[in-house]
Amino acid sequence: MLPAGSLTAAIVLAAGEGTRMCSAIPKVLHPLAGRPLVEHAVRATAELSPEHLVVVIGHGRDAVDAHLRGVATALGREVRTAVQTRLGGTGHAVGVAMGLLPAGLSGTVLVTYGDVPLLDATTLTGLISAHHSAGHAVTVLSAMVEDPTGYGRVLREPGDEPSDPAAVEGAVTAIVEHRDATAAQRAIREINAGVYAFDATALRTALDRLAPANSQGELYLTDVLRLARERGLPVGAHRCDDPWLIAGVNDRVQLAAVGAELNRRLLERWMRAGVTVIDPGSVWLDADVQLAPDVVLHHGVQLRSGTMVGPSTTIGPDSTLSGCTVGAGSTLVRTHAVDAVVGDGVQIGPFAYLRPGSRIGEQAKVGTFVETKNADVGPRAKVPHLSYVGDATIGEGSNIGAATVFVNYDGVSKHRVVVGAHARTGADNMFVAPVTIGDGAYTAAGSVITEDVPPGALGVARGRQRNVEGWVYRRRPGTLAAEAAQRAQVAADQTPQE
Ligand code: UD1
Ligand code: CA
Repeated sequence: MLPAGSLTAAIVLAAGEGTRMCSAIPKVLHPLAGRPLVEHAVRATAELSPEHLVVVIGHGRDAVDAHLRGVATALGREVRTAVQTRLGGTGHAVGVAMGLLPAGLSGTVLVTYGDVPLLDATTLTGLISAHHSAGHAVTVLSAMVEDPTGYGRVLREPGDEPSDPAAVEGAVTAIVEHRDATAAQRAIREINAGVYAFDATALRTALDRLAPANSQGELYLTDVLRLARERGLPVGAHRCDDPWLIAGVNDRVQLAAVGAELNRRLLERWMRAGVTVIDPGSVWLDADVQLAPDVVLHHGVQLRSGTMVGPSTTIGPDSTLSGCTVGAGSTLVRTHAVDAVVGDGVQIGPFAYLRPGSRIGEQAKVGTFVETKNADVGPRAKVPHLSYVGDATIGEGSNIGAATVFVNYDGVSKHRVVVGAHARTGADNMFVAPVTIGDGAYTAAGSVITEDVPPGALGVARGRQRNVEGWVYRRRPGTLAAEAAQRAQVAADQTPQE
């Protein structure tokens, strides 16, 4: 934790086009673990409680801005956006953000990227603390990487042309972009992660002096280091040697790789907190999922945003839950559930579909090939087989027969079915809404229930059975059916009557 007031401003650069995504969606809105890339960056910086938090947007700005409004609400803090109408480089982008902030701004300014989703508050805190304790005007987050191609290289004393590219001892002098670097500089493996802590005044002064004197004709934020040093201000680097933390997403291959790593880290965190994950390679968690101790996740489980699972609940195999709250000691097998609330000791599946507004009471059962929607299934109630329960209330302890349909839709509007407590409804019923089955009532199998069944009554709504004797002999002579019937007839005739 940083002491309060340590960070004056955080600036997240997110105006880039992301051409390599080949997407109609702005790059920073592509999701990872249930959150757009830019939201990961904003949440990490917000954890440091900067006084001002500004996101520089440009490409797809309306969509990005709209998403950030929601993030601001969720975080309960101000998140401002500065629009960069023309991509003039990272230095230009920071200048645009600074233009939004008070002119006399002092203190520390953090700059990060909207497409570096794994960078966490711990690393950023380390950078700011190092920046403060060293008394630097600029501290850049650097990393030693195997393949530095494409990155800016950190130059250190004694000279701009290192004799030993692995040396990270001398004072930092500048950053040179890959495309502007000499062959000797390109051998340097210490790269600029693109994350910096700046003294606000030094930053402003240097931004005013940036010139597009480089191969891209852009204003490079990296030049702030050189300019600060030319004015005799101390600059330095803070190393982060976990390459994943600083990994940027530029295309969908990197999106998948960074996503897999984030998932691995989320799973590891939950396993250390007491969750059993049978096959971590096949289980995917969104960042905000909450799991209690002794939750067991079998293979093929996806837990999406807003899902919370209580202690000793088992999920999977092959289940997807999104926006669900599940209680303790429940079992969900091959279940797809969206915005559902499941109580304690509940059995769901295999092959169940819980749609939004499903509320399953404690120790209830929603069984095989059952779909529920906007439905209250009471405590200890059971819908064991092959049923659709839409817009319904099922009372405590009631049992719904196999293959029942709650007929909620008349083609124009939806209506509700209410089943009381401890009712026993027959198999293959249709409950044509609106209709009420009273407490303790029964219904006969195969009934189409269109009228209320009073408490304690048996509702029967079906045609009586009539057997047409000898029909098969007359109408299907010579068939296997007729022969089988004939044999049964003979056997019956030969059986001595009591
Ligand atoms: C930049 C650094 C490089 C560093 C690398 C780390 C500069 C000049 N170079 O290079 O030293 O190793 O990041 O990833 O800073 N952006 C804007 N507006 C702009 C330009 C960029 O918002 O006008 C945003 C982009 O959306 C992106 C980030 O800034 O999120 C970095 O931009 P990018 O063009 O990818 O910088 P690099 O060339 O990778
Ligand atoms: Ca980049």
